Amino acid sequence: MNYIGSKFKLSKFIKSEIEKVVGQMKDKVFCDLFAGTGAIGRAFKTESKKVIANDIEFYSYILNQNYINNNEKINYQQYIDELNDTQGIEGFVYKNYCIGGSERQYFSDENGKRIDAVRQKIELWRTKKEINENLYYFLLASLLENADAVANTASVYGAFLKHLKKSAQKNLFILFILSFFSNNFDWTNFKKFS
Ligand SMILES: C[S@@+](CC[C@H](N)C(=O)[O-])C[C@H]1O[C@@H](n2cnc3c(N)ncnc32)[C@H](O)[C@@H]1O
Repeated sequence: MNYIGSKFKLSKFIKSEIEKVVGQMKDKVFCDLFAGTGAIGRAFKTESKKVIANDIEFYSYILNQNYINNNEKINYQQYIDELNDTQGIEGFVYKNYCIGGSERQYFSDENGKRIDAVRQKIELWRTKKEINENLYYFLLASLLENADAVANTASVYGAFLKHLKKSAQKNLFILFILSFFSNNFDWTNFKKFS
């Protein structure tokens, strides 16, 4: 995520410094009190006995439910395809965060409508019990990460930019996000979502 304060780039360093002090993590519990994007918890997921992720914000709960709590390999492709085929609707995001429906321009009108449609569809699937909790959080995390990629901000959501920046003009497309379904995930190939 575009995120001021993310420790993603420092995660290897933080992990090795912690291990210098406490030794191998295999039999230890790692507790991330300000988990945010979950970047640090992810670095310990495969190697510690347990990861506890804590954060006051709900976005963080969604991301950590997916990245930390989920160990199930999910068949997600048909759902991602269906979300990408969904027609946009004028919902909450469009009415509050897009210039067409409000005085703000956090997203292009088109992307705001698509975020609304995708969000509502994911909730409908959950209500109808068509998807389980792991898939639900995977899809929500995918929406969060991909919506963030087309947000018209300078990385924080305290303010939007006056003109739609280049990346915000691109159409929202829900891409498969990095997921760490398994404790056996190969961390040597760990790369930043972009
Ligand atoms: C700089 S970010 C965390 C960065 C995180 N390590 C990462 O790499 O993404 C700080 C986080 O602390 C959380 N936070 C701030 N005050 C908090 C509190 N009183 N209790 C729990 N979380 C809090 C914020 O919601 C935010 O997600």
